[in-house]
Amino acid sequence: MMRSSIIGIWRLFCALCCAVGRKDVNLPDFIFEMDMKNILEELSVSGNLRTLPEAEHSGKHIARDGRRMLNLSSNDYLGIASDGRMMADFLHEVAAVPELSGADAAGFLLSSTSSRLLTGNYPVCGKVEDALAGMFGAEAALTFSSGYHMNAGILPAVSDSGTLILADKLIHASLIDGMRLCNSKVLRYRHQDMAQLEGLVWKYRNEFSRIIIVTESIFSMDGDVTDLRRLVEIKKAVPSVMLYVDEAHAFGVRGETGLGVAQEQGCIHDVDFLCGTFGKAIASMGAYLVCSETVRRFLVNRMRTLIFTTALPPLNYLWTLRVLKELPQLGGRRKQLEENSAKVRNAVRALGLECPSGSHIVPVMVGDSNDSIRRASEMQAAGFYLLPVRPPTVPAGTSRLRISMTAAVTAEETAALISALSVQSSAGGDECR
Ligand SMILES: Cc1ncc(COP(=O)(O)O)c(C=O)c1O
Repeated sequence: MMRSSIIGIWRLFCALCCAVGRKDVNLPDFIFEMDMKNILEELSVSGNLRTLPEAEHSGKHIARDGRRMLNLSSNDYLGIASDGRMMADFLHEVAAVPELSGADAAGFLLSSTSSRLLTGNYPVCGKVEDALAGMFGAEAALTFSSGYHMNAGILPAVSDSGTLILADKLIHASLIDGMRLCNSKVLRYRHQDMAQLEGLVWKYRNEFSRIIIVTESIFSMDGDVTDLRRLVEIKKAVPSVMLYVDEAHAFGVRGETGLGVAQEQGCIHDVDFLCGTFGKAIASMGAYLVCSETVRRFLVNRMRTLIFTTALPPLNYLWTLRVLKELPQLGGRRKQLEENSAKVRNAVRALGLECPSGSHIVPVMVGDSNDSIRRASEMQAAGFYLLPVRPPTVPAGTSRLRISMTAAVTAEETAALISALSVQSSAGGDECR
């Protein structure tokens, strides 16, 4: 870090010397570019430089640089996108619609061309929301263009200066950005530290008119499962407390009919803001909140990331509706996913590695960012497409490989993965924490 800063300053100095006096160089632009190049150089030296990897997909496999690998880095948890059958049926039916012009075509458009508050609210949007409300036994539901829009928009809409937000330390960046847009006090509690959270609730209960606890049900990078029932207990002890749970990584995957951890733990109706996304297990795009009719109407009036953006295409809503209807029948996929994930979790622990996961997201802790890059490329060479997860996505010193299991992975492939992890661990186990 220190070395790269000195090199950066030296390079900036040399470049400035060359640039001064040259008429074709705009100095402020030049310095701006140099600043960015220095930061990129620092990221590169620390192993935290990001690029956009290009990959060819072929079912559950992915090809990069001519190598075919089992894709263990996607969020297609139920294998719906990779097996393609459901999507093929859907597209077949869509193509068979006799009249794809005029009024009949409206439901199949590839763009809504407008915000839902203008002309983008096609009937199928309401159908998806009615289906969700029915599945969750809720009064209403509201859908959004993505999980990012959802998390960046709900909290700023429902909170004010009299609100205290208490958020788990490891929540997703979209929630953090939402909290940054709030005019409220925000405190972060240690990851899953219910005792600390409870202490904060009791300490501040009389200072704020409302307290909102914010968490995820399955954490995206650690794969651990939140004790929602305990959170409900904490919430119920103080009347001004509300609970916001993002089920992005659990929707479709957990619970008897796939409604998430809240269904599994029997507390759907105790969560005030129960939300999730369609871009992962559902193999679609968008996000939802199940809520009361009043909250829905309020958000339609106040949620900026809903109001000021183009709605998802009607065709996308139609596909989401198809998958939602199928969801209760996908118990076999959920079972296979959990069985294989449990084997991987146990194997990682047996290697002596810390593994907080209780789900299909299984981190292999490495620590150092450059080491995680090296280990990921070794696993790729062995035929498993794993990617390193590094700061700022995870805290410094906790870089890891993130194994994202899907229902498409067979028992044989799981066994092969476990043996590749063991080989790698015995070759360099002392570097793992
Ligand atoms: C917990 C969580 N919430 C929200 C999102 C954002 O969802 P989307 O990709 O639909 O914007 C993610 C994305 O990974 C996530 O992990």
